Amino acid sequence: MNHISPRVIFIGDSGVGKTSLITRGTNDTFNEMTSPTIGAGVTQFTMSVNGADVSFQVWDTAGQEIYRSIVPLYFKYAKCAIVVFSFEDVKSFQSLNSWLDMLHSNTDHEVPVVIAGNKWDVEKKTVELAEAKKWANDRNCQLFFTSAKTGEQVNQLFQFVAENYVSETQKAASLSLVENKDKKKDCC
Ligand code: GTP
Repeated sequence: MNHISPRVIFIGDSGVGKTSLITRGTNDTFNEMTSPTIGAGVTQFTMSVNGADVSFQVWDTAGQEIYRSIVPLYFKYAKCAIVVFSFEDVKSFQSLNSWLDMLHSNTDHEVPVVIAGNKWDVEKKTVELAEAKKWANDRNCQLFFTSAKTGEQVNQLFQFVAENYVSETQKAASLSLVENKDKKKDCC
């Protein structure tokens, strides 16, 4: 039996609020002054899905350029990637494609991607809402407008990731049950 908690990774440019989203989602706190993440850090987090507790390893990765060569090391075994941009920083939105490329070229399995457009609370948004929606829609990604500062949509983001993981796991389990039955039919 596999007792290792599924791994969820947060990726995206520096300063978009990855650490802050994790702190808000797991601890319901927010800090105006954060330090850039060095390499990566992990938090264990438990969520309730359909009345059952599911534990996750939530990996916070560094967005700074100097860490670009080590961040992909954390993609291995990821069950979901939350790719974050900031509504305050159009460059972080333009970087989404390169984060997806980096994810796909460093994983040998399908990793569901969820997009968090963070800092939704700021008045001066430099990313067009319609453009963000289209970008996510074109790639079949769920998009959340989050604010680690106010907490808006943060629980919904975590809940979606947990529920999606559980339903994908159940689908895979029932598929392999059918395949095993078919194999037995073939051999006997
Ligand atoms: P790296 O570790 O360098 O990759 O950055 P990060 O993506 O983890 O960003 P971090 O969480 O450290 O946040 C950077 C800054 O943005 C901090 O000053 C936070 O307080 C601020 N911040 C994070 N989320 C929000 C938000 O939703 N709204 C606002 N207004 N500020 C935020």
